[in-house]
Amino acid sequence: MLEVSGINKRFGGVAALSEVSFSCNRDEMIGLIGPNGAGKSTLVNVLSGFLCADSGSLAVNGRVVARCDPIAAVRAGIARTFQTSRLFGDMTVRQNVEVAHSRCMELRPAEGVGVDPEILIDECGLTALSGLPAATLAYGNQRLLEIARSMALAPAFLLLDEPAAGLNDAETALLARRIIAIREQHGCGIVVIDHDLSFINTLCERLVVMDHGRVIASGPPETIWSDPRVIEVYVGQTPPTETQQATIQ
Ligand SMILES: Nc1ncnc2c1ncn2[C@@H]1O[C@H](COP(=O)(O)OP(=O)(O)OP(=O)(O)O)[C@@H](O)[C@H]1O
Ligand SMILES: [Mg+2]
Repeated sequence: MLEVSGINKRFGGVAALSEVSFSCNRDEMIGLIGPNGAGKSTLVNVLSGFLCADSGSLAVNGRVVARCDPIAAVRAGIARTFQTSRLFGDMTVRQNVEVAHSRCMELRPAEGVGVDPEILIDECGLTALSGLPAATLAYGNQRLLEIARSMALAPAFLLLDEPAAGLNDAETALLARRIIAIREQHGCGIVVIDHDLSFINTLCERLVVMDHGRVIASGPPETIWSDPRVIEVYVGQTPPTETQQATIQ
């Protein structure tokens, strides 16, 4: 279980995260959604140790993870991808995954052999491209390579920051199938951020909705999409209450 409790993070006058709490089971895929600036990437940055929260805590399987420490996050079993690609562009596809695999062996020797890079490359459909420099791959394949590379850290929880951004419909559908297969194969919990709500609805059994740094709703998609707070954030308005309607008339 990944347990996020009462996380706060300010950037000067901006409260990017306010008392953010949620949990994710190892067998769950959660969609983390919300408008631009809601705090989604900031949360992933905090959970992966890339940013220091002002307060709050994170625990994996009941063990508290040290804050502001990406290595501690990897050791605890957390891996992430970035909203904008951070592949090693000059290195081949295989090398990108092997680097992460070696790091996993170094940081988590108890994991034994970790996840074989060749298997991850195959699961992401990149075997035929494994000798090519990452920067030469089509964009959709670069996004898949980022997932293969983070899976080489043998995570218990994988955080995906907008993996479908910039992909066309066919690429998005393929990405969704790959993510489902990877989860089935490796049994990790996944928190996925995306603005493509049909992609999120295809993948996730539970949604966490953020707005202005706060979690405003969480639950299965059917309850989320009938929640007036969520409708207000996405549509910008709620249907008038009966009292308001009476006033208008
Ligand atoms: N390094 C930073 N310095 C200052 N402000 C920041 C920094 N990073 C994020 N913010 C601010 O924190 C808030 C949350 O930003 P964040 O990037 O987490 O939102 P997001 O939900 O990921 O949005 P998007 O959907 O556009 O990616 C925004 O107001 C943003 O401007
Ligand atoms: Mg973001």
